[in-house]
Amino acid sequence: MVEVAVLVSGSGSNLQALIDAAKAPDYPANIALVISNRPGVKALERAAKANIPHLVIDHKAFKAREAFEAVLHDTLRAHEIDLICLAGFMRVLTASFVAKWPKRILNIHPSLLPLFKGLNVQQQALDAGVDKSGCSVHFVTEGLDDGPVLGQRTVPVLEGDTVETLSARILREEHILYPQVLREIAKALKSRS
Ligand code: GRF
Repeated sequence: MVEVAVLVSGSGSNLQALIDAAKAPDYPANIALVISNRPGVKALERAAKANIPHLVIDHKAFKAREAFEAVLHDTLRAHEIDLICLAGFMRVLTASFVAKWPKRILNIHPSLLPLFKGLNVQQQALDAGVDKSGCSVHFVTEGLDDGPVLGQRTVPVLEGDTVETLSARILREEHILYPQVLREIAKALKSRS
């Protein structure tokens, strides 16, 4: 079984999708740990409800990003984590942290990468006037939203769409895509070990 930590900062609807998918008896990954960099977020409640170990590593308690990441790394190691899934995790990870987890960090991003990186992605898509958008799961590398894309799902951008309506349409697809990609990656990792 591939042991997965999910890193969150907010609502955790993608976390929920992963938790639900991992209940399938043949699912190759176990959601073993949830870490939030923000206290009191809904994602932590979701983890508690699913009886998944969960904890807060509050980035505000650290002066330097490196110190925060050192604790994060040690915690992941202590829990014998194989793979990290970022799911609405709102901290950028440094190159040195990423280098410790090569091809072991996945992220979900609400655009069709390489289009629209960074923040306010749906607004970027609306401003660009594209007729479709979607979501991508990719390996995390040192560049922001830049690693190899592992899977994508597409949605139409409709007349009169707002950030809210487009975000909601994309989020529904995220909940399908992330569990599918994690299944594939975990299966591949398992077959190597
Ligand atoms: C999602 O849109 C994800 O793509 C982005 O942040 C949002 C997180 O939503 N990185 P949730 O916390 O999983 O509900």
